[in-house]
Amino acid sequence: MIDCSCVFKRLAGRDVLAGVDLHVMRGEALVLCGPSGTGKTTLLRAINGLEPIDRGSITVGGHSVWPSRLGARALRGRVGMLFQHFNLFEHLSVLDNICLAPRQVLGLTRGEAEKRACSLLADLGVADKANHHPLQLSGGEKQRVALARCLAMEPGVMLLDEPTSALDPARTHQVAALVERLKKGNVATVIVTHDRSFAYSVADRMVSLESGRLVDLEQETSCCASRTTAPATALLQAA
Ligand SMILES: Nc1ncnc2c1ncn2[C@@H]1O[C@H](COP(=O)(O)OP(=O)(O)OP(=O)(O)O)[C@@H](O)[C@H]1O
Ligand SMILES: [Mg+2]
Repeated sequence: MIDCSCVFKRLAGRDVLAGVDLHVMRGEALVLCGPSGTGKTTLLRAINGLEPIDRGSITVGGHSVWPSRLGARALRGRVGMLFQHFNLFEHLSVLDNICLAPRQVLGLTRGEAEKRACSLLADLGVADKANHHPLQLSGGEKQRVALARCLAMEPGVMLLDEPTSALDPARTHQVAALVERLKKGNVATVIVTHDRSFAYSVADRMVSLESGRLVDLEQETSCCASRTTAPATALLQAA
């Protein structure tokens, strides 16, 4: 579903991405870790068509994102990205933040979009914030609203940049349950995280970005295979 081949990107005089090969299948959750400043966000932005690359190619669902931008339009609305700094529209209410794209891109009616939004807000434990504005929310609430905004588009590809950085352990379980739901829904998901226990609970595969290249974390991935996801799923269902 996501195919990056030999991707190079130079920033501030440094090859941040220096020959990245990355392949993620439908229904697979790939965890991307690595030290701060190594280029994880840059890679997600490139996959989402926001960051031009210098060399190599990126396709999503068979549509070319780089170097040819021919497929980029077809991907509008099919790739969801949770931004590291949330990027909510501060002048819009929580509900309007979530409903905007489903109405404009997917053509949902206001009622349909609001129903979808309210259900996601409830799943994430922030149903009572629907009519608040982002400035009235805590960091963790903003993060969950931003996640609901991505999920509302029901994309085939999800790029989650540190989705639990502002969350306590119970909320982190809810996000883990949502990732399980994405996998069952055949969504290809890339998750950047520094939270190892969250990573173990969701990853089918783990890679680390080091010196511009991806390194497979095989040992850690074998731990993932033996994990149980039931508690997280149960938590979400109970929410
Ligand atoms: N627009 C830009 N112009 C110049 N340098 C940039 C730009 N964007 C990112 N960088 C640099 O590229 C490197 C990779 O940044 P990136 O945000 O991708 O790192 P990251 O792995 O996501 O880090 P973190 O874990 O802290 O979020 C950093 O050294 C950063 O300073
Ligand atoms: Mg980052």
